[in-house]
Amino acid sequence: HKPVIRVVGSLNIDFVTRTPRVPGPGETLSATSMTVHPGGKGSNQAVACGKAAFTSPSSQDVVVEMIGAVGANDPYYASLLKPTLEKSGVSTTGVEEMEGVQTGTATIIVDEGSHGENRILVVPGANARVNDLAKIIETATKDGIPDVVVMQGEIPRSTVLGLLKAFNSPHYKTCVIFNPAPMFPEGVPIDALKGLAVLVVNETECRQLFTCVDELKTVPTSGLDEPMTELELNRLTTYLHNKAGILIVVVTLGSQGVYYSFETPDFLDRSLIPAVKVERVVDTTGAGDTFVGYFATAVARHLAQVKGLENLNVREAVGRANEAAAKCVQRNGAMESIPFGYE
Ligand code: RIB
Ligand code: NA
Repeated sequence: HKPVIRVVGSLNIDFVTRTPRVPGPGETLSATSMTVHPGGKGSNQAVACGKAAFTSPSSQDVVVEMIGAVGANDPYYASLLKPTLEKSGVSTTGVEEMEGVQTGTATIIVDEGSHGENRILVVPGANARVNDLAKIIETATKDGIPDVVVMQGEIPRSTVLGLLKAFNSPHYKTCVIFNPAPMFPEGVPIDALKGLAVLVVNETECRQLFTCVDELKTVPTSGLDEPMTELELNRLTTYLHNKAGILIVVVTLGSQGVYYSFETPDFLDRSLIPAVKVERVVDTTGAGDTFVGYFATAVARHLAQVKGLENLNVREAVGRANEAAAKCVQRNGAMESIPFGYE
């Protein structure tokens, strides 16, 4: 059977304005362009899973389904989001079209003067209504427990914490890949991560995760604007392995590369993998999502062969995900800039 990935998360319409620089307070500036794109961290990651699963233009070896919500009768969903998901091999039957609420939106400013760096303002809309735990679990397990469940931080915190608890419990036990992006303002208690298979965070999210952990206050941390040191990364991930039993922790460090730590009762594998060199960065939007989706597909393929993640080649999965993310930043938009697996 083909492995199954279900992504429970957000769907957004992205309004992208490119500008030579970001205006200051009270300033009006002529920008370069405004374009509308399909986006949202949940649906971007679903698309990345779907596209990664294409081994040729006509064959896909992983089943991918999106679970989330949009506003009813939304022309942008009908003309942009839904077709893009479907062309990427992602089923949309789990996307609920809700009355009386808008599809989520993201206003994205791409600073052309600053290596395509972006600033994003998200209005959750229908994503804030993804809160019926029983219904989500029913949809997610309708034809059996999926091999992989992927989640982010753009749906309500209570939903995410509830689903983490359910899918990491012996009853539903599945491989959850959690990318708390953006981190909830109230944070995520380490306890909620008990039994999690894979945690993917960037440096900021990693720091935010530890702001309430008193035991680590004594650990010398680098300044907030400085890159994390490898020593710091080792300590933080060791804590996550020991306290929450997380199997794989991945910290994406932008141009510094990707750090991962993989611990089972029998071995520890950790390493800092350099970033793939990119000639010209056009738009970094969606790079993190591309990484998570490609990684999730590698995990799903592995689980189709053997039970458990103990023998997963994490280095290889990170390598492939890195290459895909490097392609993404050389193209405009989020979802559309995610490469297919055969590219
Ligand atoms: O990760 C990129 C995404 O974040 C964008 O597509 C936008 O919708 C925001 O949610
Ligand atoms: Na991009």
